[in-house]
Amino acid sequence: MQFLTLFALVSYVSAILIPLNSFSGTETLYRVNKTSRVYIISNSPQDVLQSLVLSTTTGAQNSNAYSLSVPQNDGSLTAFVPTQDNDFLSVVFNGPTKPEGSLYMDSITQNLNVFPLQENSSINFKQGTNVFFKMSSPNGQIAVAQNVVVPQNQKLSGYVGLPETPNPVQFFDSASIDTITTYNQLEIPMQVFHFTSSDANVKYEVKFAARSGITIGSSGLIMTDDFPSGLFGTNDYDLKNQNGINVDAIFVPRLDKTRGYGGNITVFMTTTNLEPTVFPMLSPADSNITSNSPMSRIVVESDGPYAIQYFLRDTTVTTPSPYESTTKSSSFPQIIASLLIAAIIRF
Ligand SMILES: *[C@@H]1O[C@H](CO)[C@@H](O)[C@H](O)[C@H]1NC(C)=O
Ligand SMILES: *[C@@H]1O[C@H](CO)[C@@H](O)[C@H](O)[C@H]1NC(C)=O
Ligand SMILES: *[C@@H]1O[C@H](CO)[C@@H](O)[C@H](O)[C@H]1NC(C)=O
Ligand SMILES: *[C@@H]1O[C@H](CO)[C@@H](O)[C@H](O)[C@H]1NC(C)=O
Repeated sequence: MQFLTLFALVSYVSAILIPLNSFSGTETLYRVNKTSRVYIISNSPQDVLQSLVLSTTTGAQNSNAYSLSVPQNDGSLTAFVPTQDNDFLSVVFNGPTKPEGSLYMDSITQNLNVFPLQENSSINFKQGTNVFFKMSSPNGQIAVAQNVVVPQNQKLSGYVGLPETPNPVQFFDSASIDTITTYNQLEIPMQVFHFTSSDANVKYEVKFAARSGITIGSSGLIMTDDFPSGLFGTNDYDLKNQNGINVDAIFVPRLDKTRGYGGNITVFMTTTNLEPTVFPMLSPADSNITSNSPMSRIVVESDGPYAIQYFLRDTTVTTPSPYESTTKSSSFPQIIASLLIAAIIRF
């Protein structure tokens, strides 16, 4: 039998993401190196994935998409790594039903870990760059990172999309609120995202869960679906602060920097004789909003998508303040110890 060989691409690429349904009985060839890592992200049935065969021309390695798609115990995928430089990876599919999912190839990211995120799976932090691909859509749930711990002087950053994306959009930066070491839940309602950390003692658990909103005594991240594109709406969080205790709050909003729009975080007070405070958010700038007040409701309105990293502390609970407060906080509702806003322009 004669097979037609198609040299689909000849130039070397550092990263690609290709839908598995694009492969056929005609060989597709990619130039690869010993630094290339090839991953199969799919939950198509075993027999379908076994019909997708990966091999190297010079190295004569052979594998199939099924064996590459099965996660290890820690939830990460095993990469197909060529043994030779200047080799070709050949991908051929011979089956009746096309597989779903993607072939992902990277050759530049150091310490890369690739995780398919399934319903009921719970993935723990691994040192390096961790990429997550959303595989399921459990009802009423989104991808989240829970029980996030970033020890003092360590760093965890979260970005939209693949690590090779030039200037990826950032949605989380532990350094933005450098005194906070724990976050209850980060909302990450998107298809592909990644976290980077070179530190060993960071902790988190990535899974599907319901949005939990903003509550006093918690820290986290709220995000509109598919940030920085996608739909957005007004969010109204009731803090259940009937007694009007003073709350220390920090908000770090991030908007789509490639577009010009704005929004507001409006903080309503328990005592109605206190005017609400409106903190503006502007797309080109990451602002840093701090407030110490007897807040009862937080309303986020925006003309576009947003991600807001936040921290809310009950000042009557004796844990150290996350930042140097100029005025000692008081639990009397009529006193607003301080209200300040600082916008840091970082284009
Ligand atoms: C192999 O990788 C090096 C850098 O890592 C790159 O410069 C070179 O072009 C690659 N060669 C092939 C054949 O892919
Ligand atoms: C996840 O768990 C629920 C409840 O135990 C179960 O109904 C569902 O089938 C599970 N989903 C998967 C993909 O295993
Ligand atoms: C924002 O303000 C808080 C409290 O003052 C501070 O800890 C943090 O470092 C600031 N973040 C940035 C990015 O300036
Ligand atoms: C934010 O507040 C300003 C002034 O209070 C208002 O003009 C603007 O329309 C508000 N923006 C949104 C998105 O609600």
